[in-house]
Amino acid sequence: MHKAHVLLHRDFAIGETDRRLFGAFAEHLGRCIYGGLYEPGHPEADEHGFRRDVMALVRELAPTILRYPGGNFVSGYNWEDGVGPIEERPRRLDLAWMSTEPNSFGTNEFMDWCRLTGIEPMLAVNLGTRGADAARNLVEYCNHRAGTTLSDLRRAHGWDKPHDVKFWCLGNEMDGPWQMEAKTATEYARRAVEAAKMMKWIDPTIELAACGSSGRNMPTFGAWEETVLDHCFDHVEFISLHTYLNNYAEDTPGFLASPDLMDSFIEEVVALCDAVAARRRSAKRIMLSFDEWNVWYRTRRNRQERVKENWPVAPEILEEVYTMEDALAFGGACISLLNHADRVKCACLAQLVNAIAPIMTETGGPAWRQTIFHPFAHMSNFGRGRVLRAEVESPTYATRYFDPRGTEDLYFPLPKTPYLKLAVVHDAAAGGLTLFALNRSLDSEMAVEVAAKGFGTLTAEESLEMHDRDLKAINSKADPDRIRPRRLTDLEVKGEHVRAVLAPASWNVIRLGGAK
Ligand code: AHR
Repeated sequence: MHKAHVLLHRDFAIGETDRRLFGAFAEHLGRCIYGGLYEPGHPEADEHGFRRDVMALVRELAPTILRYPGGNFVSGYNWEDGVGPIEERPRRLDLAWMSTEPNSFGTNEFMDWCRLTGIEPMLAVNLGTRGADAARNLVEYCNHRAGTTLSDLRRAHGWDKPHDVKFWCLGNEMDGPWQMEAKTATEYARRAVEAAKMMKWIDPTIELAACGSSGRNMPTFGAWEETVLDHCFDHVEFISLHTYLNNYAEDTPGFLASPDLMDSFIEEVVALCDAVAARRRSAKRIMLSFDEWNVWYRTRRNRQERVKENWPVAPEILEEVYTMEDALAFGGACISLLNHADRVKCACLAQLVNAIAPIMTETGGPAWRQTIFHPFAHMSNFGRGRVLRAEVESPTYATRYFDPRGTEDLYFPLPKTPYLKLAVVHDAAAGGLTLFALNRSLDSEMAVEVAAKGFGTLTAEESLEMHDRDLKAINSKADPDRIRPRRLTDLEVKGEHVRAVLAPASWNVIRLGGAK
């Protein structure tokens, strides 16, 4: 059995988790919108055509903010196509996913869906095929009260009150050659600044995220952030980061170590932001919006393959079926985000339904939870509060992570990966202390001793664990709860001391009370 020690103190904190850290993403992509959020004619559809069974699972998952409408899709999107009478909306070829976009769901339907689920809307503007003019018009359409052609158009469409969207993304992954009208850093930065200025002139209360690199393995990573921030620093509050973890190499230890590279990515982007601030002698701190993160690798295809499908509407693409092992890597990513709560003030799980998603549906049929649903729901429901600075002493292992880029094979060494990856969140108001713990050893249990200083007498609340001897086990329509959290039984709590035994290859949530 492995042994690990954790030392923490009530007064030593990394930072407060922002509500927006627990966000998700819904793109016009495959069956995420059509057949996912929206399926008129489904037995569970409400009067808007929204699936009630999906909304019930979303409430349980508890995302707080939802990014829309893309993703790659937004870089060719005309927002005007998605408003007004549904029967008059144009059908368009979507060059992001080589499908046909019917536009029966658009901005206003998205706002209604967010309102019904209690989720904050986040909009991305098209800085690919369009630019500042279309972006400022969308802000006016959404957020201006009344008395102009665009705000009155919204009212005529049936939405009298402004949508009051606060969080806006200035395009999507503009550094990626796969993007419609991808740009060099300078080309993008100039377009983003001009859009930002005009968007904020219309509504000075909005917050803006500039595109950072679409991955740490991009050849322009670093130089891209510096150039973009040199131009945009005074105009934006956030810079974005995207990461999709993979197990292409079929190397589970490397895959489970990969969230540690998210830690590096975050810390590197913080350094880049602060270097730009330092050059300007500025006290302003750009915050990080990790607005796409997940596991994704099995269902990646290129355009040549997709175009053979003959432009379908809502095709079954990117429908990654998640395993137990994926849920573990995913849980590691949750811990990485929590442990950077001081600077990652927004994050979006990509995506919400069907396309690389925690919720799966059958068109016309049921909806169920994928394996990754559970760590996210745990993080969102129990991760609100102050993240504490925990000192972790754990045995380590040496591994490497394979993260290819185009045709180039890239290996990232991870010579000292702790078997235990952990985050601790203190919710003083509720008196709760929650430990999120990943045991990355595939064959050893881990005895974890925690000294939680400054807490007096802690009590054991319901604690949970997820593991399965078969790391490739999945949830499916036939067996929707094969992988689900169960009670963690091997747990002792005495005063400020906690001892738990974690199963090999397990995700654990230890919930303690009495922590006022
Ligand atoms: O989430 C799927 C795609 O991944 C998004 O459209 C894009 O931004 C990223 O490359």
